[in-house]
Amino acid sequence: MDQHTDRTGTRELMELPLPRPRECPFGPSPDYARLRIEAPVVEVRCPTGMRAWLVSRYADVREVLGDSERFSSRTGQVPHMMGHADPARPVRPGEFTRMDGAEYQRFRRHISPEVGTPKRLAELRPRIEAIVEERIDALAAAGRTADFYGDFTVPVTTAAISGVVGVPYADRHLFHDAAAAVFSDVSSEPEMAAAMQPLHAYLYQLVRARQENPQDDGVSRIIVRSQESNEPFSEMELVSMCAVMLVAGFDTTATALAHGLFALLAHREQYTRLRTDPSLIPGAVEEIVRCFGGAAGIARQVTRDTEIGGTPVSEGDYVVVAIQAADRDPEAFDEPDRIDVGRRMSGHLGFGYGTHQCFGQQTARLELTVVLEKLTQRIPSLRLASAVEDVPFKTHTPVIGPAAVPVTWDEIVPSEKGQR
Ligand code: HEM
Repeated sequence: MDQHTDRTGTRELMELPLPRPRECPFGPSPDYARLRIEAPVVEVRCPTGMRAWLVSRYADVREVLGDSERFSSRTGQVPHMMGHADPARPVRPGEFTRMDGAEYQRFRRHISPEVGTPKRLAELRPRIEAIVEERIDALAAAGRTADFYGDFTVPVTTAAISGVVGVPYADRHLFHDAAAAVFSDVSSEPEMAAAMQPLHAYLYQLVRARQENPQDDGVSRIIVRSQESNEPFSEMELVSMCAVMLVAGFDTTATALAHGLFALLAHREQYTRLRTDPSLIPGAVEEIVRCFGGAAGIARQVTRDTEIGGTPVSEGDYVVVAIQAADRDPEAFDEPDRIDVGRRMSGHLGFGYGTHQCFGQQTARLELTVVLEKLTQRIPSLRLASAVEDVPFKTHTPVIGPAAVPVTWDEIVPSEKGQR
């Protein structure tokens, strides 16, 4: 098959990523609106050279993500974007994001209680509140301007995921470096392995220490639960699980939060609405994830000849679901391109859907909620410090969003704790 034409050999293949002009920083490529109507399931050539079916309608994306028997996760989430993520590479021990069925559920069962139960979230809230207050105090101490992404959301979400897993914040460089390689389109497979090695070596020591002497932390509880089960995890599996959580947990949330705040400040009346009516915050969190979750889309592989939205696809074909495009589908959401903190909706796909939907979604919701609560109350004058079109963007990475959000303010209200 010609690498550049579709399987009929007649039409030039479209290339991903679709062009995204600078003047619309708050949405996926405007081309998706046309594709959803004219070619909702269309063959494309991905940045890694992989050919795939690009799916952009809400109903079709939900169908693919919701049926793990027909659409396998064995490919990994982003082989279409990352050269190091060879979809044919054998699955490593503990690489649960690439597993299906019972093999996958063994992992999910043990990790979920650490990130999703009401008890765990209630314990996590005061920790996240303290982290957020501390970072706002740090902004106040540093002056009148900051990069909301680098100076605020990255430290906040890093501290949160460190706390969830049980890794000291001081050791964050290990998973930051690993994430930089995982989310980089320039890493090759050997470069990736080299970047992961220090994190894996560190986590191996941590796992061994917690096996001998369990603490009140996520790693220890996962180890204990696993030891009580019929099929305990090996050390390599535990290391890999912790690495996935650390790498998946901070920049996704930091970027969604930075992108969300950028949008709220660019449409400043939305920020003011949250300040005057904090009951809107839970809805605003969902709106941010609808608009900015899921980023560059997620891959699957077809397990048997079937159809997606009436288009035939064959066993072995790759599929890329364009989550952000689906969440802008007017069939699913009214005026989908409008960012509205008062929107009443459910069922967005920003955290994925079906079997593999985001493990950390309740943790992420909590982080976003606490940040919006504290920011709107303590920094009412928060505003952008640069023109919307000057805000730099990360591109060619699975986590798309601003690379920096310059902000400024007149005054930061001292924390309640500080006032006492
Ligand atoms: C706003 C922030 C976040 C967004 C938008 C997000 C988005 C997603 C999406 C779309 C998936 C689905 C992948 C798939 O179907 O293959 C996913 C999976 C995952 N997320 Fe998140 N995520 C966020 C925060 C977090 C946090 C805080 C954690 C850790 C506590 C986390 C851990 C994971 C893990 C481990 C998976 C893999 C699940 C699997 O393959 O079964 N995420 N995330």
